[in-house]
Amino acid sequence: MEDTALSFVETALSALERALHERGSELRNVQLATLSPDGGPGLRTVVLRGFERAPARLEMHTDARAAKARDVAGDGRVSVLAWSADEQLQLRFDGTARLHRDDEVARGRWDALSPNGRNAYGLRSDPGRRIEDPEDRTHLPGDEQFRCFAVILLSPDSVDVLRLGPEGAQTRAIGRFVGSDLSAEWVGP
Ligand SMILES: Cc1cc2nc3c(=O)[nH]c(=O)nc-3n(C[C@H](O)[C@H](O)[C@H](O)COP(=O)(O)O)c2cc1C
Repeated sequence: MEDTALSFVETALSALERALHERGSELRNVQLATLSPDGGPGLRTVVLRGFERAPARLEMHTDARAAKARDVAGDGRVSVLAWSADEQLQLRFDGTARLHRDDEVARGRWDALSPNGRNAYGLRSDPGRRIEDPEDRTHLPGDEQFRCFAVILLSPDSVDVLRLGPEGAQTRAIGRFVGSDLSAEWVGP
């Protein structure tokens, strides 16, 4: 049995922090769920680019023309799910995200990206729109490419942590973030 729900949640957050520095870690490829303007769900994998604990904040990058960017700029309520088979650990963050495009936050992150890193954004083709040639990977010119780059910052209200143990045992706790404080309680799995 873990000491407290708080230490159980903090241990899970530490695993996520470590994952950010480990190339290929499963916890870095998270699922981002958004709400589209018609109220429907949207779900996709994104790379977790940053995680801060106090105040809690998750960072992801995308093309500003993508559906997820439109959703975040609209309703903004999102969930982010991370799962590691190695650690038998699932974390689900819920909260409100903000889109940063063509602003100081986006500029800072863009300047820090390698040329290869930048090339994930600002292709001539619009994400999700019909194209003739799937091999066409040409990019918009410099500044236009930057304006297609967007940073998603999520301020989570809560994190739901589930750890699987031997013989199907499940341990679960909910952590709540208020400002820089974190509280937690055990919940039934
Ligand atoms: C392992 C993996 C990592 C990905 N990382 C990102 C990412 O960091 N940012 C991103 O915009 N798309 C990423 N994608 C692509 C998205 O999952 C998605 O296919 C694409 O961005 C379009 O999503 P949307 O139309 O729902 O916005 C990744 C896909 C995979 C399989």
